[in-house]
Amino acid sequence: MEISYQETSKDLLKRIAIHEKYGSRNIDEWNLEVLQPQPGFKILDVGCGAGKQCFLYSDHTGRKAEIIGGDFSEELLDKARAKLAERGDTNVSFRFLDFNQPFEFGDDTFDLVSSAFAIYYASNLDFTFGEAHRVLHPGGRLFVTGPLPENKKMFYDIIKEATGQPIPPMPGSSRFKGEIYQTIEGIFAKTELLTFENPLTFPEVAPFMDYVRASLSEDRKLWASLFSGKNEYEALIARIEAVANRWFERDGKLVMTKVVGGILAIK
Ligand SMILES: C[S@@+](CC[C@H](N)C(=O)[O-])C[C@H]1O[C@@H](n2cnc3c(N)ncnc32)[C@H](O)[C@@H]1O
Repeated sequence: MEISYQETSKDLLKRIAIHEKYGSRNIDEWNLEVLQPQPGFKILDVGCGAGKQCFLYSDHTGRKAEIIGGDFSEELLDKARAKLAERGDTNVSFRFLDFNQPFEFGDDTFDLVSSAFAIYYASNLDFTFGEAHRVLHPGGRLFVTGPLPENKKMFYDIIKEATGQPIPPMPGSSRFKGEIYQTIEGIFAKTELLTFENPLTFPEVAPFMDYVRASLSEDRKLWASLFSGKNEYEALIARIEAVANRWFERDGKLVMTKVVGGILAIK
């Protein structure tokens, strides 16, 4: 039986599709502007999921960079491999990688290590970013993206109004600018924080609710203080929908702004 409040690859792909359809800016273009990956680069994408960033770099370099995507979810790796087989890139590969364990690569291997919305879950930041630093060439770059505290304010405000409860702590946004930035700054020669803002405008409530469903299952147990089991989950969704409908009637649209931070560091 599929339990709709646990993270599945379907949820991740749904959120990506919603960003693409309702967003006014494209995070992939920002990613490429910042990184400008070149043919001949050796690139590692950590927590690659279904391979989004790997395929982006491959297309941008005319399939002439060597790209490895690593993730600990076999389900998402299968999705990535299926897409790879469809596309036929011979310069991209996917493999198991748990970023809480030593990376199975030699020192000074990569020109670029990236991680989009993933590595900030690491349990020991010094260890994980130490591994990222070790496998980079001197002068190689690390690029880590994640949510800033201002991210998706409207989404959290609607859930707060619907539940009358505080939003559970989100390790991503609460750690990103602080602990994660400081850890990277302590290990790398040069570190800077870039930001990307992308307003998503929903012309009706239904796609927003699709986003809510695909997000509450995000990060698995993060939302557990708000519901337990399927019935409570559905009751919560109904309360959120009622508030979203009120906001929509008042404003004529729902606008949720993604505010993403990018930590760019040089070894
Ligand atoms: C929100 S998804 C982002 C995926 C992809 N980078 C993207 O932007 O589409 C977070 C990813 O981190 C992965 N992840 C979480 N913990 C991990 C770990 N310990 N080691 C490797 N990957 C992990 C998940 O499996 C998931 O693919």
